[in-house]
Amino acid sequence: MSSDNTGNKLWGGRFTESTDEFVQAFTASVTFDKRLYAYDIAGSIAHARMLTKVGVLSEGDCTAIIDGLNDIRSEIERGDFAWSVALEDVHMNIEARLTDRIGAAGKKLHTGRSRNDQVATDIRLYLRDEIDFIATELRRLQTGLLDLAEREASTIMPGFTHLQVAMPVTFGHHMLAWFENLDRDHARLLDCRKRVNVMPLGAAALAGTTYPINRAYTAELLGFDMPAENSLDAVSDRDFAIEFCSFAAILMMHLSRFSEELILWTSAQFGFIDLPDRFCTGSSIMPQKKNPDVPELVRGKTGRINGHLVALLTLMKGQPLAYNKDNQEDKEPLFDAVDTVKGSLRVFADMMPAVQPKRERMRAAALEGFSTATDLADYLVRKGVPFRDSHEIVGKAVRRGVELGKDLSQLPLEELQSFSKVVGAEVFEVLTLEGSVAARDHLGGTAPAQVRAAVTRAKARIASTS
Ligand code: ARG
Repeated sequence: MSSDNTGNKLWGGRFTESTDEFVQAFTASVTFDKRLYAYDIAGSIAHARMLTKVGVLSEGDCTAIIDGLNDIRSEIERGDFAWSVALEDVHMNIEARLTDRIGAAGKKLHTGRSRNDQVATDIRLYLRDEIDFIATELRRLQTGLLDLAEREASTIMPGFTHLQVAMPVTFGHHMLAWFENLDRDHARLLDCRKRVNVMPLGAAALAGTTYPINRAYTAELLGFDMPAENSLDAVSDRDFAIEFCSFAAILMMHLSRFSEELILWTSAQFGFIDLPDRFCTGSSIMPQKKNPDVPELVRGKTGRINGHLVALLTLMKGQPLAYNKDNQEDKEPLFDAVDTVKGSLRVFADMMPAVQPKRERMRAAALEGFSTATDLADYLVRKGVPFRDSHEIVGKAVRRGVELGKDLSQLPLEELQSFSKVVGAEVFEVLTLEGSVAARDHLGGTAPAQVRAAVTRAKARIASTS
């Protein structure tokens, strides 16, 4: 049988006519699943070794198969491999080429195996590698955020609720909030990896095989934690891919929120940061423009990841056990989710250390909007005023500030004392931005000392789980 024999594919025995030409293209997956070639070959080599160990394949056949597969890998990597849609998918393309090259021994490789357990194995091997790479990229971004947080531990900016100025915070503290989001994403990813790293091989088509296979040995050769317990489950479920996409959707939701802030912060109205030119693009009509395209695109790409997650959930939901061809539709969403996450993380990890905070602008913005009003209320409480009364008193002082166009710290002492007799001259210490952030001096608080301590703890934490 040769790879260009379109009328007689690897399963053609019981057929009396060749496949309709359009049906052939419609059912083929090789155009996209060829990216699994290295994993398909690794899985086949392990399978051949196991068959040899248990006495199903001869040593000679095994050597011929392994050499042949290694040559095919080189052929593919050199760009010399002729992929054939008539051979449907990556598995049959490689197997047919193997038989072309080594003859009869090639036809023995598929003993005790099915494309059903083969493809499920390939995807898991692929995804495991990608997860490891993504975990490293996530750590690279997180480390960049920690460095930024450390550098800007005492840089003051306004903190917002409802996008209205709420209280002063430190820029370092804000970066640490992003770090924590990503740290949970990292943990989710590693947790997902545990369920990815289980081996379907040996499940064969659905029920197992009559050969005396040693699944633990194949699993060990491929670095899987264990063989899957149930053959029907092993070939049919793609929940591990759904789990990855759900990790990806949550991660992208976080990156999208960061993006939204970066976009706001680079606007003339906020002016909190500058992004270096190499991460921005211009406008073909407005010469003055410098657009934050990178974060905008990351925000935009979040949509397709949500789409992929829903696509996979929907793909799975109606399927009876065990394998169904529907599952061929798992690959494109998964591949695109992997590519999108990798691209977005890479650009963020490159960009974040290059963000230039505009400290004076952030400080000026924190001085607007009465960001230390709560500090004044807390001051009055310390002087014996019940909190609800002090809230009311400060509200009135703010109203006066609005009338005069002044911040609380700019009102004369007598003016402040007209709202409460307990106010003393030392009130101005609590009304400063520095006093306000330094006072929030407890675990998780925004005080510069707390930010530095949190960075130290975070560095130790990621060193132990990278
Ligand atoms: N290309 C197929 C897929 O991606 C491989 C498995 C085909 N199995 C089958 N019984 N048709 O799912």
